[in-house]
Amino acid sequence: MKNIIIKKASLADIAQLQKIGRETFSETFSESNSAENMKKYLEEGFSISKLSEELSNEHAAFYFAMRDNQVIGYLKINLGASQTELQDSHSLEIERIYVLAAYHGHKVGQLLFEKAMDIAHEKEVDYVWLGVWEENPRAIRFYLKNGFIEFDKHIFVLGDDRQTDIMMRKKIN
Ligand SMILES: CC(C)(COP(=O)(O)OP(=O)(O)OC[C@H]1O[C@@H](n2cnc3c(N)ncnc32)[C@H](O)[C@@H]1OP(=O)(O)O)[C@@H](O)C(=O)NCCC(=O)NCCS
Repeated sequence: MKNIIIKKASLADIAQLQKIGRETFSETFSESNSAENMKKYLEEGFSISKLSEELSNEHAAFYFAMRDNQVIGYLKINLGASQTELQDSHSLEIERIYVLAAYHGHKVGQLLFEKAMDIAHEKEVDYVWLGVWEENPRAIRFYLKNGFIEFDKHIFVLGDDRQTDIMMRKKIN
């Protein structure tokens, strides 16, 4: 897909971040989770206070994929102690890559992924890692295609549901 711009998000973009965050999470997980658990996660996980804390964190960053001035996807990466697990100073976590369903299959996720890899090279980390829900085959295929391999499994709590995340990583050097 042409004319996609990857742009770093700042505090001034918080409303757009909240919107794309909620919309893509909802599209991805509503079908396979209870309405109540979704509602709670959408409220808390994308609250203005949580997002402003994340946007202000110097060891984390959000990037938007933009088309015609519209945000159609986003990426969140974490470094050092800001990683949700591991907290290895030589690794980078891709916490979120989400693209609006209408744009899936057009390599927008690929552009966001490549941005994360560019940062990983710039920061000279040893590996990039992420957690992906075991019931998200499209995302798992996407990461396998990009050279990630499974190294562990962890529990992720969504409301009152305990779900298994597959931990995957890709060595850089
Ligand atoms: C995973 C994700 C980021 C991949 O981004 P993308 O831009 O769709 O990536 P690609 O264009 O490389 O497409 C990935 C695959 O999905 C297929 N695909 C998925 N949906 C499609 C659709 N609606 N139309 C056509 N192809 C589609 C593509 O054929 C491609 O497979 P291939 O590599 O074997 O050709 C994106 O699908 C997404 O945002 N999913 C929902 C959120 C999510 O699950 N995020 C990960 C959480 S850990």
